Amino acid sequence: MDKQQAEKRAAELREQINYHNNRYYVLDHPVISDAEYDRLLAELQEIESAYPELLTRDSPTQRIGAPPKDELGTVTHRLPMMSLQSAFDEQAVRNFVENCTEGAGEEIEFVAEPKFDGLAVELIYENGVLTIASTRGDGIAGEDVTENVRTISSVPLRMLDNEVDIPPLVEVRGEVYMRLSEFDKLNQRRQAEDEPPFANPRNAAAGSLRQLDSTITAQRPLAFFAYDTGIVAGREFVTHWELLQTLPKWGFVVNDNIRLCEDVEDLLQYHAEMEEKREDLDYEIDGIVLKVNQRSAHGRLGARSRNPRWALAYKFPPRQETTRVVDIEASVGRLGAVTPIAIVEPTQIGGVTVRNVSLHNQDEVDRHDVRIGDTVIIERAGDVIPHLVKVIKEKRAPGSRAYKLPKNCPVCGSESVRPEGDVVVRCPNFNCPAQIEGRLAHFAARGAMDIEGMGEKLARQFVREGLVKRLPELYQLSKEQLLQLEGFADISADNLLAAIEGSKHTTLARFLYGLSIPHVGEHVADVIASAFGIIGAVRGASAEELEVLREIGPEIAQSVVGFFANEENARSVDELLAAGVTIAVADKTDDSLIGLTFVFTGTLENYTREGAHRAVEELGARAASSVSKHTDYVVAGETAGLKYRKAQALGITILTEEQFIDLLKRSKEE
Ligand code: IVH
Repeated sequence: MDKQQAEKRAAELREQINYHNNRYYVLDHPVISDAEYDRLLAELQEIESAYPELLTRDSPTQRIGAPPKDELGTVTHRLPMMSLQSAFDEQAVRNFVENCTEGAGEEIEFVAEPKFDGLAVELIYENGVLTIASTRGDGIAGEDVTENVRTISSVPLRMLDNEVDIPPLVEVRGEVYMRLSEFDKLNQRRQAEDEPPFANPRNAAAGSLRQLDSTITAQRPLAFFAYDTGIVAGREFVTHWELLQTLPKWGFVVNDNIRLCEDVEDLLQYHAEMEEKREDLDYEIDGIVLKVNQRSAHGRLGARSRNPRWALAYKFPPRQETTRVVDIEASVGRLGAVTPIAIVEPTQIGGVTVRNVSLHNQDEVDRHDVRIGDTVIIERAGDVIPHLVKVIKEKRAPGSRAYKLPKNCPVCGSESVRPEGDVVVRCPNFNCPAQIEGRLAHFAARGAMDIEGMGEKLARQFVREGLVKRLPELYQLSKEQLLQLEGFADISADNLLAAIEGSKHTTLARFLYGLSIPHVGEHVADVIASAFGIIGAVRGASAEELEVLREIGPEIAQSVVGFFANEENARSVDELLAAGVTIAVADKTDDSLIGLTFVFTGTLENYTREGAHRAVEELGARAASSVSKHTDYVVAGETAGLKYRKAQALGITILTEEQFIDLLKRSKEE
C-alpha cells in the first residue's frame, strides 16, 4: 500500500470506527461484533504506525471510548485509566517482549493475568474507607457508580488493616463482572418474569452497574477482581507482583490464576493453558494480560497514545461472529417441543464450526424479529450452545417477511399446541417419529444408558427404517437387521450389539434420566434415585412423597407421577425390565454422601480444588462453587474467607480438612 492509498484507507477506517464507537458506547447498540471492531482498529493502528505522519489528533486510536452518560455523576480520574494494546498472534507477543526488554533499561520479568471480560472500575479509599467508585468511561472521566459498587460483596467497604498499614489514599482498579452460573440464573429469572434476557455476562454486569437505582444492582450478583492501582499515597510497590500480593491483605480479591513469567516462552505457555482452562472457569475471560513486573521500567517504557508500552492484551480467538441466516427450520425435540432453528452460513467461532443456532421459541423470534436472509451476530460463550446476540436490521434485504412457526408438526403433521402461559409450542403426538428419535438418542446418551457408538444419527436411522418404534425394541435388534442398514459391517454390528447388551446393567439414576421424563435432568434423577433406591418405589411414589425431597417442587413431582401413570410409559418400563435391564441397588447408609453438596474454601493441604471436587463426585456428592442454604458441608482449608463466614451465618456444618478426609474414608468403607 502506498502512502496515498494508506491515507484514503485510514480516513475510511476512522469514519467507520467513529460510527461504531458511537453505536457501542453512546447508544449501547452495536451493529458489528467485537471481533470485527477489533480488526478495524488493528488495521488503522497498523497504518498509523507504518505512516506516523498520517496520525491525527482526533483519530479513534487516540481516544477509545466515548463520553460517559450524564445521568450518573461524573468522576475525573486522578491518573488516566489507560487501555491495552491488543495482540492476536504469537509474533505480536514476541515483538512486545523484545521491545520491553530493550526499552526497560534493567532486567525484567513479566506478570501474566487473565483478561476479564467485564467492566473496569476505580475504587477510591480515603483512610481505608470506600468513598468513590467510578467506571473507566473514556479513561479521563467515568461515571459515578459509588452506590452501586457498594452493593458488590467482593468490594470491601473498609480496607483490612491487620497485616499491612493502610495509606491515607488508595485507588484500586479492577474489573466488575458476573459469574456465568449467576448469569444463567439471572436470565432464567428474567425470562420467567417476561423480561428480555441479557446477551452475555458482560452486558449483564454493565447494565447492572450503571443502574440509576442501586437497589436493583443489589439484586444482581456482581463480583470484583482487583488488578491494578492508581495513586497509593506514601507506599511504593517495587514490582507489580508485590502490588498483587498486597491487595488481598487489604481485603481485595485478586484472581488466583496470575503467574510470574520469566520469558516469552513462559507467557505463550500461560496463554495456551488459560485458553484451555477458560472452559472450566465460572467467569468469562477473553484473553490474557501481560505486564512488565518491574514498576520502575514502566516509566521508562512510557505510553503510546492511551496504551502503556509495558502491558499487552493477548486475546483468544473471538467467540462472537457475524453471519447470515440462510433458513429457519422448525425442529421437534424428544419432548415434542417445536423449536425454531436458524440455519446460518457456517462460521468458525473459537475453533468450532457453527451451522445452527437455536432461536428457542416464537417469542424469541418475535423479540429479535429475525428473518431468513438477515445478517446476525452470534456468540458462543463457554460450553454454551451458540445463541443469537442480535439482528443487524440495517443490513436487511427489502421484502423480507417475519417468520412464524408452522401450525402443524413439521414431522408428523399433527396440529401443534401451545399450552396457556407456556412459551413453547408442542407436537402432541407421543409417537411422532421425531420424538421417538429424540428419546432413543437420549436413552443411549452418555449420562443415561451410555451405549457407545449410538448417537443421534443411528437413532434416526433406526426410526426411519422402522426398526425401533418404542424404546424396548432397541433390545430386540438382531445382527441381521443391523447388517441391512447402510454403514454396518460384521464387526461394527457386533460392537453395537455388545454395547447395547452392556448397557443393561445400569443404575437407577441413569435409567430414570434416560426415560425422558419432562423436567427430570441428570441432577433431579440423582436426587430421586438416592431417595427411593429402587424403580418400584419411584413408580409407586405420590406427588406428596416426591415433594418432600429438597429440590423437587410440585411441577417436577407432577411430571414424574404423570409419566408413570401413562399406560404406554408404564408398559415401556415393564418391557425394558423384561428385556433384561437390571438396576443396581445403591447402598443407602447413613455415611453415604450421595446427593450431598460440598463447597470448598481456602487452600487444602492434600487436595487441589479439582482433586477435592473429584473425590466427592466419585462418591455421588456434588461440589458447588458458592455457599447457599442448599449446601450440606463447607470444607475449610487455610485462609478460608468469605464462604466460611457465610457458612457460619447459615449454620452449615463446617469441616476441617482432617474431618473431611475422615468422612470420605467412612463413606468409602460402606
Ligand atoms: S490492566 C494499563 N489487567 O482491559 C493497564 N486490565 O483495555 C490497564 N482488563 O479497561 C488495565 N482484565 O477492563 C488490566 N488483568 C487485567 C485486565 C484488564 C481485563 C480490561 C479492563 C481495561 C481493559 C484495557
